[in-house]
Amino acid sequence: MTSTKNYDVKDPNLADLGRRRIDWASREMPVIRLLRERFVKEKPLSGTRIAACLHITTETANLALTLQAGGAETILCASNPLSTQDDAAAALVEYGIPTNAIKGEDSVTYYQHISTVLDSQPHITVDDGADLVSTLHTKREDLISGIIGGTEETTTGVIRLRSMEKSGDLKYPIIAVNDAQTKYLFDNRYGTGQSTIDGITRATNILWAGKKLVVCGYGWCGHGITMRAKGMGAHVIVSEVEPVRALEAVMDGFQVMPLMEAARIGDVFITISGDKNVIDKAHLEVMKDGVLLANSGHFNVEINIPALEDLSRNRREIRPFVEEFELSDGRKLYLLGEGRLINLAAAEGHPASVMDMSFANQALCMEYLVKNQGALETKVYSVPPEIDKEVARLKLDAMGIAIDTLTPEQEKYLTSWDEGT
Ligand code: NAI
Repeated sequence: MTSTKNYDVKDPNLADLGRRRIDWASREMPVIRLLRERFVKEKPLSGTRIAACLHITTETANLALTLQAGGAETILCASNPLSTQDDAAAALVEYGIPTNAIKGEDSVTYYQHISTVLDSQPHITVDDGADLVSTLHTKREDLISGIIGGTEETTTGVIRLRSMEKSGDLKYPIIAVNDAQTKYLFDNRYGTGQSTIDGITRATNILWAGKKLVVCGYGWCGHGITMRAKGMGAHVIVSEVEPVRALEAVMDGFQVMPLMEAARIGDVFITISGDKNVIDKAHLEVMKDGVLLANSGHFNVEINIPALEDLSRNRREIRPFVEEFELSDGRKLYLLGEGRLINLAAAEGHPASVMDMSFANQALCMEYLVKNQGALETKVYSVPPEIDKEVARLKLDAMGIAIDTLTPEQEKYLTSWDEGT
């Protein structure tokens, strides 16, 4: 560890509010609480230095406290310049977890924070979007020999890491937490679904009923957003590039069409594809006056913001997270949350109850990395199925829900072929 200050938060006086909100989130995180109780006793992460680049929220604070309980020395930075909850960051510092994150930090500060976190010479990296891991691989190769492994939280990060694996650039094992069923089926779908609608509502206070909503990308997050928007009375249109997902959207009851067509009729647009320039100049050129543009995908590249700037003669902030772009022909388009993930920029991100499962996977995967130190190959691993199942079992237990078990006869039947009609 360096002797210089290894944390940077907006205002330490926010710690008290942060502590209260962290406790509030904890009420909805029973699996994490259970793990924390076990970790305190067993100390499975004893002596492990963990560098984590995550959205700095009250839920992340609960994960960090669990890792601390397990004996880890954890240091945090933000995985997005606009997603930090400054009160949670201040409280984390008070809890003895150095945190480097300020809501609205510029790109230079963002990378400085990543650099501070790497100065801790971690044994494990925890990433959300792979900025930490890519910085480590390109600028701090000296640290690689000390690393046991890492975990990755989101779809975009997993895509980047698989690409690093393919090109031979990945230098240590990573577990793709995003790909656990108890992560993407709940966090991406119900978490992003609810919180994206929440973010746009908080930023704009629009009525969803009757709005024509265009959702670009019908992956797990897209499923959640469309499902929730439909429930609120929006007329949902989906744009996709993948035929199976497009077909699924059709049969789920949504209109599906090329974005060039949807661009002419939509009132609200949400990109959630993990792709680049999904809403491009040609789309912006035909949009109606007054449309809202929001992104919930990991990076702020899904809406071509430079093109929007080029097309505009004026821009001004209307209210927090709502920027008006006045185009040269007089139309006004409204960009929400600078095109950054709107659920974290303008709302509080995913509700604690889903992060409970995502972060239980994270904590258990870190324990797994320590236990299997030296035995893993340099590649992107799926979450071990026993961890995935355990998280589901613990969550059901916490919800007071019992399920059936197979009888020995059923178990035999389901693994045999000789019984037919
Ligand atoms: P996914 O891979 O399940 O779905 C993405 C979908 O977008 C795919 O069906 C793909 O065919 C489609 N797509 C790609 N390019 C497109 C284009 N040009 N036009 C229309 N559709 C296109 O991914 P998932 O899990 O739904 O994640 C999407 C993004 O959201 C990722 O960047 C992920 O990291 C991010 N994410 C954000 C969260 C948040 O809190 N806001 C939470 C979880 C994920």
